[in-house]
Amino acid sequence: MKERILSGIRASGKLHVGNYLGALKQFVELQNSGGHECFFFIADLHALTTPFEPKELSQNTLEVAAEYLAAGIDPDKSVFFLQSQVLEHTELAWIFNCLTSLGELLRMPQFTEKAKLSEYKIENNVTARRQFIVNAMNDMKFHVNAGLLNYPSLMAADILLYKPTLVPVGEDQVAHIDLTKHTAKLFNNRFGETFPIPKTYLQKPLRIMSLSDPTKKMSKTGDEALMLDDSPQEILRKLKKAVTATDTKKGSPGVENLKFLLEQFGGTSRVKDFTKYNELKESLAKKIAEHFAEFRNKKTKIMANKKQLTQILAEGASKAQKIAGKTLAEVKEKIGLI
Ligand code: TRP
Repeated sequence: MKERILSGIRASGKLHVGNYLGALKQFVELQNSGGHECFFFIADLHALTTPFEPKELSQNTLEVAAEYLAAGIDPDKSVFFLQSQVLEHTELAWIFNCLTSLGELLRMPQFTEKAKLSEYKIENNVTARRQFIVNAMNDMKFHVNAGLLNYPSLMAADILLYKPTLVPVGEDQVAHIDLTKHTAKLFNNRFGETFPIPKTYLQKPLRIMSLSDPTKKMSKTGDEALMLDDSPQEILRKLKKAVTATDTKKGSPGVENLKFLLEQFGGTSRVKDFTKYNELKESLAKKIAEHFAEFRNKKTKIMANKKQLTQILAEGASKAQKIAGKTLAEVKEKIGLI
């Protein structure tokens, strides 16, 4: 039996080089290794927990889907779908919400961060933390949607519906996977052996830094992020502006970042030989442009045929639903829902 791998993808718009190297590239490698049965989905329901515009949400979802396909996710090899199109996810999430304690959800690092509980200067001792959380929740300014709190229950449902062996995620998601394991154990103990406990497959934390401020991680909101579909001219323009000034004793984080990127895109041999940063930048721009040439083509073609794209996603959802439906039926029976 092949190991089953499952992971969810944020639907927050176009991807940059950091997203590619940190997650997408590894998903494609896992898929193509042939040793795994892969499930990848776009977590569009999770996208509702942070501010969104309906038009942008649908556009972002299609765009991310197109980028995953263009980068090599193959719907014949992997089950690729939208979370919102497999209704079992929300149903199981509700059941898990009734099993998980509020305290556990309140303690999730992503919740405390996104809910800006940090503004309440939470201290490290448990009593103080509890008190601060209670105070925050009583505060009229604490506008936090309940979806943000229940996010991990939906994530546990996303995962456990498919009974995967491995869940590849970045470091920031480890607490959520731990809660998923805990939920699975709780369920198994109370209602009988149902869910195998999945393993976290920690993706190597690649720190691709911003070109304009190399002390921060590359992010979509920074205008200098290298997007996967940037034209060769655009890549060169952004790289030419990249900060290379030496600003720490250890050397220049900007230059280190560019060298690291060059290695990632196959320019390993003569990294040390660059006498001028311009040469390094030009060489890197060329490598990146070449690396994503096929990607750009494919993405344009996919986006030009939205009907086909939605068809691919619908087929993926129907494959996923077959498995999710079985698990949910088993769960409902075990807990006494008729
Ligand atoms: N929360 C994950 C993220 O922000 C995305 C996600 C949703 C996910 N459901 C999942 C990842 C299930 C792994 C498994 O990146």
